Amino acid sequence: MTKTSYADLADRVVLITGGASGIGAALVRAFASQRSRVAFLDIDTPAGEALAHEVAKTSGTAPLFVPCDLLDIDALRAALAKVQGSLGDAAVLVNNAANDQRQVLSDVTPAEFDWMIGVNLKHVFFAAQAVVPQMQARGGGSIVNMSSVAWIRGAPALPVYAAAKAAIVGFTNSLGRRFGADRIRVNAIAPGMVITERQRKLWYPDERQIAEMRTRQAIPDAVTPDDIADMALYLASDASRRITCQCFRVDGGLA
Ligand SMILES: NC(=O)c1ccc[n+]([C@@H]2O[C@H](COP(=O)([O-])OP(=O)(O)OC[C@H]3O[C@@H](n4cnc5c(N)ncnc54)[C@H](O)[C@@H]3O)[C@@H](O)[C@H]2O)c1
Repeated sequence: MTKTSYADLADRVVLITGGASGIGAALVRAFASQRSRVAFLDIDTPAGEALAHEVAKTSGTAPLFVPCDLLDIDALRAALAKVQGSLGDAAVLVNNAANDQRQVLSDVTPAEFDWMIGVNLKHVFFAAQAVVPQMQARGGGSIVNMSSVAWIRGAPALPVYAAAKAAIVGFTNSLGRRFGADRIRVNAIAPGMVITERQRKLWYPDERQIAEMRTRQAIPDAVTPDDIADMALYLASDASRRITCQCFRVDGGLA
């Protein structure tokens, strides 16, 4: 967890999608440690409730967990309205939820394509659409969209995911330019290889695969969920007040 304290993040309403596990859970812990008023949405209710309980014990304030399937845009809108009603206007939105299901190009059906775009891109757009008026009302805000090095490096097993993660950077730039005058900043983070529980279980069960990937990093140390959260804190805080329309790789210099 970061040792940096951002005084301006205290009491700010911070929304995190996909906050129940992995990098999202590190984001919830990190913003709670800054004494932000954190709300997070996730489809995994047991994990979300367990995290809210844990953070309440460690930080003294319970984050607001709202179970939500982000594929359902009406449910997303209702969840965001509930957060606004409980905590007030959002100052920060971290669009983090995603699913990096591997695919073979020839096997992808139109339905599967729509699902991948739904789980990786559509909710990013509609969450931002919902919070922009809230940020305008409070005089500004910061939106942080989670992209990936998958599209920059050209990950062969992730054709739809990579397309969605590239689109997120295009959306980031469009939104940042449109609402910069309202002091709404929009940036993206492109993580490299971050071994979360899911990554280890599904894609990296063998330590040798992880070691091999790390040989491609300029900095050989593991990139952790906390490393991603540190960048998100910086982009959320006023410390980055003149930074918008950017995508930052946090990948140890992955080649
Ligand atoms: N881990 C990595 O190596 C890596 C690399 C590049 C980019 N990223 C990006 O970072 C972000 C976090 O990645 P992660 O590895 O922690 O992912 P993860 O799969 O471990 O966690 C994703 C979270 O999103 C939630 N979620 C998934 N579908 C949902 C839905 N329909 N409705 C609500 N919640 C849903 C999951 O329950 C989970 O809590 C993602 O945007 C991912 O694309 C991760």
